[in-house]
Amino acid sequence: MKTTKIALLTVFATLSLFAKNENVGEVNMPLYKKECGSCHMAYQPKLLNQPSWGKMMDNLKNHFGTDASLEPDETAKIRDYLTKESSYGEGGIHDKISSQRWFVKEHRKISPSLVSQPAVKSWANCAACHKTAEKGQYGERYINIPGYGAYRD
Ligand code: HEC
Ligand code: HEC
Repeated sequence: MKTTKIALLTVFATLSLFAKNENVGEVNMPLYKKECGSCHMAYQPKLLNQPSWGKMMDNLKNHFGTDASLEPDETAKIRDYLTKESSYGEGGIHDKISSQRWFVKEHRKISPSLVSQPAVKSWANCAACHKTAEKGQYGERYINIPGYGAYRD
């Protein structure tokens, strides 16, 4: 009885995590958009948890092979925004959105060649497949994978 309850709770927690991620809202901080949206899109804060954003913002000098460091006051403002708006969905500290369990699970059926192709390049390029990624809408009906088309589960 107890285990059934726990199992059910886990199922609901997992479902609500995915349901929440389908629409994570729009980025509403111009400074963040400007400073963190030049090399890639400004990822919505809900895509990562608080300690993960904190770790990233504390180490912008070594940001995936680039130096993304900013003025201290800008770093502090963006850090504040990201950690306050972050998700609490998945524990642990993750260097990437795309290295989290929920992400890997959601994308497990996609062939690696569709990701490595020039029109996509890497998982970090969300908008290549999610046409409404900038709006925070990741639902299935807004997906169109280059060289593959609309996604049907
Ligand atoms: C000079 C370019 C540059 C700037 C500016 C920059 N980044 Fe990045 N960022 C990168 C690169 C390169 C990657 C790795 C992309 C890949 O894996 O293909 C990356 C990856 C990321 C990822 C992980 C994406 C994934 O695959 O899950 C996050 C999150 C991220 N950056 C956040 C930020 C934040 C926050 C800022 C602003 C403080 C920022 N970036 C500014 C170059 C930049
Ligand atoms: C190569 C194409 C591709 C890239 C790149 C990609 N995705 Fe996806 N994503 C998909 C597909 C296809 C699905 C649907 C998988 C399924 O339903 O089986 C999906 C599902 C999702 C979901 C679940 C949506 C729901 O209905 O609950 C989220 C959230 C998501 N992706 C976020 C991201 C984020 C954030 C990035 C970038 C860091 C990203 N994706 C990069 C193709 C991609």
